[in-house]
Amino acid sequence: MSSTTLVPSTGNGLFSRYHFMLRRLHSLTGILFGSYLIVHLTINATLVEGQHIVNGVDQGSFQAQVDKIHGLPFLKAIEWLFIFLPIIFHTLYGIYITISGQWNVGRYGYTRNWLYLFQRITAVIIMFFLLFHVLTFKGVFGEVMQGALSFNADYAFKSTVEHLNAAWWIWAVIYPIGVLASAFHLANGFYASGITWGLTISRTSQSRWAGVCGLIFLGSFGAGMAALVAGILNANILKDDSVSPASHAASPEVPAVVETVSPPARAE
Ligand code: HEM
Ligand code: HEM
Repeated sequence: MSSTTLVPSTGNGLFSRYHFMLRRLHSLTGILFGSYLIVHLTINATLVEGQHIVNGVDQGSFQAQVDKIHGLPFLKAIEWLFIFLPIIFHTLYGIYITISGQWNVGRYGYTRNWLYLFQRITAVIIMFFLLFHVLTFKGVFGEVMQGALSFNADYAFKSTVEHLNAAWWIWAVIYPIGVLASAFHLANGFYASGITWGLTISRTSQSRWAGVCGLIFLGSFGAGMAALVAGILNANILKDDSVSPASHAASPEVPAVVETVSPPARAE
């Protein structure tokens, strides 16, 4: 966030020696994950279109986007390379930056100091939010809340609505706070990265970039909240059993096919 981040450290420790390079990598992974987040929140905002059930199948935009993503080749590799590894590195090094006490108090103007402090507070909030968000959607908590928290790509809309409405504190506390913290950290981080990479040096370019980042904040916060409100307003679809929910899936009445494979008759 500051020009001081550009100065390589002269310390002897492993972290200090590679401080400059690690700082750049921290910035780059923040930009990468931030770009993913903009796309992610934009796709989530299509939840406002609702479900469009035709013959028991959801033909809505959200389901279509999820189908496209889940149809990508090498999806696991893409996810790890462009989403999970960057945010894991960014988080671990972010924790190091935060606890190593590189606070800027007194070095900058009043507003910049507050933004710097909020960047760290939101980082900690996002860390807990992401753990909850990703682990529950991936089904790590299995049958907790009758499995209502996990995501089912075949019933994308309904399982997302079910997740958001699984308990009042999920839609009323976790998501509004998680989305607000993420939108702030993303926009303020993008602003800071302009300085880190030497792209916004003059005061004029910094204030112009601040305007763009303000719009990024409003756009991402608005998209996240629109998705959340759509999730809350559509809670009534959970009573409709014509489309199976993610969890207590009213599995279609298909009788189990038991194949008995007899060994080939042995020629005596
Ligand atoms: C929504 C997820 C996140 C996004 C989009 C994101 C993005 C960014 C960006 C773009 C920066 C600016 C880097 C620079 O100064 O060039 C940044 C800074 C920072 N991030 Fe994140 N980040 C996220 C989550 C986290 C998490 C979970 C942590 C955990 C500790 C974290 C810790 C930090 C810290 C401490 C800074 C300030 C670095 C400094 O002032 O030099 N971030 N982030
Ligand atoms: C109301 C807001 C949000 C909604 C409705 C939402 C919805 C979802 C859904 C449905 C998935 C599963 C997607 C899939 O497996 O195909 C998902 C995954 C994910 N979300 Fe969110 N999300 C929201 C906010 C956020 C925020 C603020 C962040 C970042 C801080 C975030 C980060 C992630 C990540 C990292 C994944 C895992 C991606 C993967 O498995 O490839 N989400 N989200």
